Amino acid sequence: MSRRILVVGATGKQGRALISHLSTSASTSSESFQILALTRNPSSQAAQSLTLINQSISLIKGDLNDPSSIRKIFESRGKRSIYGVFVALQFPGLGANADAELIQGITIADLANEFQVQRFIFSSLERGSESYDQHLTLDRASKRDIERHIISLPSLPWTILRPGFFMENLSGTLGRITTSVLVAGLNPSTQIPLVAVDDIGRVSSQILTSSSPKYTHAKIPIISSLRTPSQMLQSHLSATSTPQPSIPLFLARLLIYLNTHTKNLYVLPFPYFLISLFPGSVHLSIRWTRLTSG
Ligand SMILES: NC(=O)c1ccc[n+]([C@@H]2O[C@H](COP(=O)([O-])OP(=O)(O)OC[C@H]3O[C@@H](n4cnc5c(N)ncnc54)[C@H](OP(=O)(O)O)[C@@H]3O)[C@@H](O)[C@H]2O)c1
Repeated sequence: MSRRILVVGATGKQGRALISHLSTSASTSSESFQILALTRNPSSQAAQSLTLINQSISLIKGDLNDPSSIRKIFESRGKRSIYGVFVALQFPGLGANADAELIQGITIADLANEFQVQRFIFSSLERGSESYDQHLTLDRASKRDIERHIISLPSLPWTILRPGFFMENLSGTLGRITTSVLVAGLNPSTQIPLVAVDDIGRVSSQILTSSSPKYTHAKIPIISSLRTPSQMLQSHLSATSTPQPSIPLFLARLLIYLNTHTKNLYVLPFPYFLISLFPGSVHLSIRWTRLTSG
């Protein structure tokens, strides 16, 4: 029988990457999966395009802000019939209130617990160390509190992923701005923990398809490389022979100054959200890369 996997955030970057890896893994192994892709709008282009990755995907309508719509998804299938749940929640926006994100995270964790899923992955975010947790605000505080709630559910076989800063943030028009904001706003020695979204999908797929207990109740940072802003620019140049697209630094400084949220971060010598990582966390990521590359 195929295992049902509910992907929350399926039309987003991480969900799409996971679906892609799950689909590849199903085509090369005897294991089969039924992917339930949660979306608020199954007829959207983003949702429909998932069927190009996997023709047998089921697009499931549901809204995390309407818990009854999510409960129906579980109830209509019954206890233990959804094997795994992957959760990536939408970023509420820079400086935006994240109370809704917290409720969404708690809602899906509680339902997964009640309906006895056998794998539950919450994609949170890397933050260097839990010793900074009391300083977190907004969506970072919500992610911390969702993590705490998940951990408080002893019978839920959870895995918390902590991905670093997405490399994809550096592409496109917004990416030009982001690149210059990082260069202008960060201490030059700050190391940015970078990860490609595809790697989050690969790691999540590995966890969902593995029967090993080592992923249960594990917190796993996912970082591909640590780069200072100037090393980041250099890497792009070496790999593509073209400078990383950016905007003039004076404009980036102006944006940082005008934005209340980044303005506060700018005055900190080490912005806690991109603080240099501790060796333990780096070690875990390297170990993870070795684990999944085998
Ligand atoms: N960018 C980074 O560097 C970085 C690093 C670490 C962690 N993160 C975290 O990654 C998360 C975002 O992941 P992503 O980039 O993969 O997402 P994304 O591309 O922004 O996609 C958001 C997803 O959320 C779904 N969604 C939004 N509201 C919903 C609702 N009320 N009910 C059900 N589904 C809903 C959307 O589905 P529909 O529109 O189809 O309904 C979509 O699939 C954020 O929490 C962010 O903090 C980001």
